[in-house]
Amino acid sequence: MIGVFDSGVGGLTAVSAFDRLLPQCDIVYFGDTARVPYGTKSKAVIEKYAFQDCRFMLSEGVKAILAACGTVSSNCLDELKEALEVPVTGVVEPAAKKAYETAARSNRTIAVLGTSATVRSGAYEREIRKYGDGTEIISIACPLFVSLVENGRVGADDEIANIAVREYLAPIIPISPSAVILGCTHYPLLSEVIAKYLPESALINASEEAVRSLCSLVGEDDSVCGRSGARRFYVSDDPEGFAESGRAFLGHDISDRVNYVNIEEF
Ligand code: DGL
Repeated sequence: MIGVFDSGVGGLTAVSAFDRLLPQCDIVYFGDTARVPYGTKSKAVIEKYAFQDCRFMLSEGVKAILAACGTVSSNCLDELKEALEVPVTGVVEPAAKKAYETAARSNRTIAVLGTSATVRSGAYEREIRKYGDGTEIISIACPLFVSLVENGRVGADDEIANIAVREYLAPIIPISPSAVILGCTHYPLLSEVIAKYLPESALINASEEAVRSLCSLVGEDDSVCGRSGARRFYVSDDPEGFAESGRAFLGHDISDRVNYVNIEEF
């Protein structure tokens, strides 16, 4: 059984990737809906929350953890890896690798879109640079995107979404980067709007790349993944609201599988 967590609904983009790539894997999902957003918090607070989230999932018996949150992955993945007794992976490394490979075949320009805390950390840039120099990297914090997604304002013609996307992407629209990392797990829901302004760029879904990489590491190992395809969801506030978003993210009803947990106890 794999534990997947995020500050809220964003990590459901990873669950959706599991549904497609490794449907038989058992998943316990935790969404910290009481404390979202993480992307505006300090590193110390993000780390404290991430440890509580992981301790809860470990209490549920998970055998590996995916931090399906760009903010956690870029601010405290090493600390989690070091302290926890199960393997922990994040979304930064796989997305950085895919972006580098994509950019190397084209104009060698990569844009990283993320929360303020993700951009401040510089984690995506550091990871991309490990593959070598010669790529131009432009990072842009897009703090309003999380609220747009949380409020379902993601349609290609949604006026507010279009204004926000146009505004944030203004510095890169003329450049048309080869690869654009959707470095926050909420952002793939805005893909249709983003693609309107960057039609030539490959949009890299960090959640999907992380699940692909996890599949190649443990996908065959039933003792880690399980094999009944069970999905259990826990949130720290508003299970009904989460279930509603879940339908939009996953395309099916999860209301009978969402439960409340008091995360402050962990
Ligand atoms: N989905 C999260 C991320 O990937 C966090 C959004 C937030 O809580 O600010 O960064």
